[in-house]
Amino acid sequence: MLVSAKEMLEKAVAGHYAVGQFNINNLEWTKAILTAAQETKSPVILGVSEGAGKYMTGYKTVQAMVAAMVEEMGITVPVATHLDHGSYEGCKKCIEAGFTSIMFDGSKYPIEENVAKTKELIAICKEKGMSLEAEVGSIGGEEDGVIGQGECADPQECKMIADLGVDMLAAGIGNIHGKYPENWAGLSFETLDAIQQLTGDMPLVLHGGTGIPDDMIKKAIDLGVAKINVNTECQLVFAEATRQYIEAGKDQEGKGFDPRKLLKPGYEAIIEKVKEKMELFGSVGKAE
Ligand code: 13P
Repeated sequence: MLVSAKEMLEKAVAGHYAVGQFNINNLEWTKAILTAAQETKSPVILGVSEGAGKYMTGYKTVQAMVAAMVEEMGITVPVATHLDHGSYEGCKKCIEAGFTSIMFDGSKYPIEENVAKTKELIAICKEKGMSLEAEVGSIGGEEDGVIGQGECADPQECKMIADLGVDMLAAGIGNIHGKYPENWAGLSFETLDAIQQLTGDMPLVLHGGTGIPDDMIKKAIDLGVAKINVNTECQLVFAEATRQYIEAGKDQEGKGFDPRKLLKPGYEAIIEKVKEKMELFGSVGKAE
């Protein structure tokens, strides 16, 4: 069932768990994540970065593929198609393509322009029954060649953006995309707590889910995080499983070179990883 992320996240806040956003790159990725969600009866958000959207030939292809897979696979759990770190132009294209959710990352604009554009997009999303995520403070690490600074968001600024009527808010709390460095200081729960105090029931989003220790994830959920984004970890397990298949020479046995066989170990590794995360986030069984 394709839906916006609004209701699933409101339920997550009320039930003290988090819904996973898992980024997709192709058909195998999408099928794996949908399979994991259906088998665990978990709501799920499919994240699409602008780079991944381009790779899959455009947002219309992505939306049509997901909608058809949801139907053909008989997926009954709530699924949202969500633009990850969208530009203003990217958001407009995803609205047109029929996505059910967008993230507007207006951090490159001066605050007045960011607010004006966010308000305009909120109005369109409300009219179309879509959900919108905004970001306060840039989230570090590298994603699609964009390197953020990594910082802790200003709780007052979070309140200001939350009050515009966004459906979910991503706030930097020391998290970064990709692998965490050895000397990473960990999440700033002090910042998260201060943001939660001011924003109340607003679902908070934790980007950079890869490599955050389980106890920190659980504490973040306790403090109001209702959506957790995971991307790199699925890429790592996919690459590892594919490498093992090739290193074992399996692509040279019989028809082992058939892409449906070659990509299967990576596909299965994604299913296992996503299920493991859904268990950790507490979303298993929440879509029954
Ligand atoms: P990771 O790649 O670190 O899991 O981050 C994903 C993310 O935050 C997507 O927006």
